[in-house]
Amino acid sequence: MSISNRRQFLAGTSALAGLSFLSLAGCGKTTDSIRVGFMLPYTGTYAKLGMAIENGFKLALRELGDNPFGKSIEFFTVDDESNPSKATDNANKIMTRDNVDVVIGTVHSGVAMGMIKVAQETGSLVIIPNAGANAATGTMCAPNVFRTSFSNWQPTHPLGRIMVEDGHKKSVFITWKYGAGEEALASFREGFEAAGGEVIKELFVPFPNVEFQAILTEVAALKPDAVACFFAGGGAVKFVKDYAAAGLKSSIPLYGSGFLTEGVLDAQGDAAEGITTTLHYADGLQNPKNLAFREAYRLAYSEEADVYAVQGYDAGLLLIKALQETSGDLSKKAQAINAMEGAKIDSPRGPWTMSRAHNPIQNFYTVKVNNGVNSVVGTAWEGLEDPAVGCDL
Ligand code: PHB
Repeated sequence: MSISNRRQFLAGTSALAGLSFLSLAGCGKTTDSIRVGFMLPYTGTYAKLGMAIENGFKLALRELGDNPFGKSIEFFTVDDESNPSKATDNANKIMTRDNVDVVIGTVHSGVAMGMIKVAQETGSLVIIPNAGANAATGTMCAPNVFRTSFSNWQPTHPLGRIMVEDGHKKSVFITWKYGAGEEALASFREGFEAAGGEVIKELFVPFPNVEFQAILTEVAALKPDAVACFFAGGGAVKFVKDYAAAGLKSSIPLYGSGFLTEGVLDAQGDAAEGITTTLHYADGLQNPKNLAFREAYRLAYSEEADVYAVQGYDAGLLLIKALQETSGDLSKKAQAINAMEGAKIDSPRGPWTMSRAHNPIQNFYTVKVNNGVNSVVGTAWEGLEDPAVGCDL
């Protein structure tokens, strides 16, 4: 953070701290607990993603024991339903009504934009464990907002080059029509064209619709060399199954950002075999940290971990840095921010560092579904940093 930004932020939040102290009278805030708020989707197409994030986060916090720094940890939850029109209300509920010390949120880029606007007013510490909205660590970057996942620019940045290397020069891109998909597409186009590819058609469905029939008929008629896409969660299950059922799988190879096959392979079954993606994580990463993490997650939740669980876990590891620096007192905001800015996270995805804009600088892998596992077949980009256009932290 630049010195002038830091001064401005701290001046702003100490005034706010006074206000929130007044408004807190009688609302039961004690200093003997650390108040953590989850603003995540617990219903809808991204419900499973929200739960995996919460699970991963709690797994990391276990590393602190039951009473870290002599305090208890209190959790507050709001289901944001991946609904941008409710984002402001939901962010106010968790930041102002519940008055949490830190918000872990959220998954959907549109909801994140609304949430960040509120956080800029309240000064609340926010750790984004998924939503990739470029602006979160770009034009809307803020001293109190950190991300442990990715910017939407990142995962599809290397994808076009990989497809051209595989011999595919004419591609169709399919996505839900909202921020995350549109930013994934823009970044894909950049990389694909730079490598000599051509996007012959962009096809959209409104979020969170899963009626793909008309689009798949159009793909069959267009006969591209390959299809690239952005889908995740429940929608990714339906898209991959429909793509195979339409008979396209063997003639037009399917690519995507790795969310397409994360946490959903069991549900997709054979339809997912052979899909190639790029992502900052893969279940099949063979480093000791990932193997231990996956084992601990399986033991704790009787489920397989996925990229969302990892991003939640890393949000926990990042918060631990802030807690260690402040002896558990997150009202020491400048110290907490300092610790998070300098963080080097020993993640199951491999080690990563925080960029000046508060977004991970991390490796991206080429991942292929092989016998029901997201297997790493190469490193698509080493140490990729989002350009953070418009951020002057
Ligand atoms: C997003 O809306 O930013 C988003 C949602 C789900 C993903 C990735 C990005 O898997």
